[in-house]
Amino acid sequence: MRMIIDTDAGVDDAQAIMMALASPGVAVEAITTVTGNIHVDKVVPNVLTVLDIMKKDAPVYRGADRPLIANWSPEEQVHGQDGLGNWKDRPPTQRRAESEHAVNALLRLANQAPGQYTLVALGPLTNIALAAQLDPSFPAKIKQFVFMGGTIQAMGNTANLTSEFNIYCDPEAAYMALRAFPMSTMLSWETTMAHPMTWAQFEALTGLDTDAARFMKATSSVTAELIKSYQYDGYLLPDPLAMAITVQPDLIRKSAEYAVTVELHGAHTRGQTIIDYRGRSGHRPNVRVVQELDMDGVAALYRRMLA
Ligand code: BDR
Ligand code: CA
Repeated sequence: MRMIIDTDAGVDDAQAIMMALASPGVAVEAITTVTGNIHVDKVVPNVLTVLDIMKKDAPVYRGADRPLIANWSPEEQVHGQDGLGNWKDRPPTQRRAESEHAVNALLRLANQAPGQYTLVALGPLTNIALAAQLDPSFPAKIKQFVFMGGTIQAMGNTANLTSEFNIYCDPEAAYMALRAFPMSTMLSWETTMAHPMTWAQFEALTGLDTDAARFMKATSSVTAELIKSYQYDGYLLPDPLAMAITVQPDLIRKSAEYAVTVELHGAHTRGQTIIDYRGRSGHRPNVRVVQELDMDGVAALYRRMLA
């Protein structure tokens, strides 16, 4: 599998990237970055550091520094001021990002190898929308487009209660991306909530004696404490679940295809994904909505990436 990852790393993004880098048979050929959880100027060094931790190489590209239209502010409460959980003792990196813009890199790679790349988006869809706007043939050249984002039962995680962060952050971009791709695969917020990692598993994995496990432990404690304060059943894995079903599609236990778009105007619902469950719109299905996953399989992917 030839893969491009688009990310606003981000604590859970970092774990998703690690999972891809540790997957035999997956070649991560580019990592494009975008403002989301934190500003892109912090996302870039975070991704470079993940490559250091995993001792892997991939070109990293700086992308959009703000949403298309929406106002933006960082999610420091969830991801820390650095986007990696206020990681103390952070080692410096010698790596540098490429000079090419992320959107140009997306278009170049798709043109060099049409029909070959799996594109996994872990943040707001700003870069993806810009690529599709610059070259309307871009989506057709992508083999498979998977994204973490959206709600399927209107139970979100943002100030707009029905909206999920990645879509809420840049609703116009999400609207454009979903309209541009003939088919996308969506890993939603409610599916994330329904598939936590147990706290026992989380403690065991972050207690492993490896650089990768120590990194996960050091960077995930802010998020873990926040999740515990909400009394959720376990540690939540939004971006890692999207990556897990990409590197191992047989982890999907239940999914269905629907016509999906994004609300752009509602006073309370801007950024909500609107799903035509009953086929009443007359629009053809454009999103495969993932509903259930094999969590033993996800835990096995975590063990492999932290080993
Ligand atoms: C999404 O928003 C970010 O906080 C996470 O990295 C994930 O991509 C979850 O709503
Ligand atoms: Ca993310």
